[in-house]
Amino acid sequence: MRHILSADQFSKTQTEEILSLAAQMDKQCHKGKIQKVLQDKIVACIFFEPSTRTRLSFETAALRLGAGVISAENAAANSSSYKGESIEDTARMLCCYADAIVMRHPKEGMPQAAAKVSTKPILNAGDGGNEHPSQALLDLYSIKKSLGRLHGLKVAFGFDPLHSRTIRSLAQMLTLYKNNEFIFIAPKGLHLAEDFLNGLKAKGAKVRLTDNLPEALSADIFYANRLQQERFANPSEFEANRKKFVITKQLMAKAKAKILDPLPRIDEIEPAADTLPNALYFEQAQNGLYVRMALLRYALDI
Ligand code: NCD
Repeated sequence: MRHILSADQFSKTQTEEILSLAAQMDKQCHKGKIQKVLQDKIVACIFFEPSTRTRLSFETAALRLGAGVISAENAAANSSSYKGESIEDTARMLCCYADAIVMRHPKEGMPQAAAKVSTKPILNAGDGGNEHPSQALLDLYSIKKSLGRLHGLKVAFGFDPLHSRTIRSLAQMLTLYKNNEFIFIAPKGLHLAEDFLNGLKAKGAKVRLTDNLPEALSADIFYANRLQQERFANPSEFEANRKKFVITKQLMAKAKAKILDPLPRIDEIEPAADTLPNALYFEQAQNGLYVRMALLRYALDI
């Protein structure tokens, strides 16, 4: 069994293995001939933080592969965590029932703490502002599907790198590939911490910051993510910045970049832009299903 906890746990070879398994899952889904390789397995999804795509795509992935699913979708209120049960004890219980555990938590490090006592693979579905490895893999899959490569790319990230676990995890994973350049665009105060930026540079990525949106949209990929409202200590800071940068239809129409967004989209992309050919975010969410099918198989080694 393999836990999936962090974007930086993967070697390039392992990443390629998962992406190629995802491509097989993509093909099987399109042909309508899915091998039910998880038929006798049960996948538990326990989410202490809201989710639409991550939980439902993991559950769909499990069901498509023939597994059963048990789910606690508002676990902060509806599981014994509400009564004060520790994450370790919760994990021990889920190990009694399920073969794999998908977990999201608002507190950084909780899936990792669960993994320490778990006899079943834990898949981190997002821990606070820290990591979102399954999202990073589906983002890589989407970039590769669209551009055919993961090296030699200019990738711009906006608009809340400081709080966005999806931006952090994707940037980490892209450092596995050579000659990538990262451009971060954010309102003042919402840029990545210096040590994280230095970590990316130490892994060989070229990194720069900008506040020029049209210029950032001339990258190969523009990875947009909403301001992470729930992670702001000061609500007025969120309000003051939420519309600082908006990708309008007009801007997207002129952009060279393919536009990705892990979603939910709030203010960062004008809905009128959705019909443009470089708006890839809904297809990206669809790719999440194939990548999570691959991840369940990878975690269970099946
Ligand atoms: C992201 C998350 O939860 O971090 N959503 C997702 O999993 N697709 C991004 C976000 O909430 O902004």
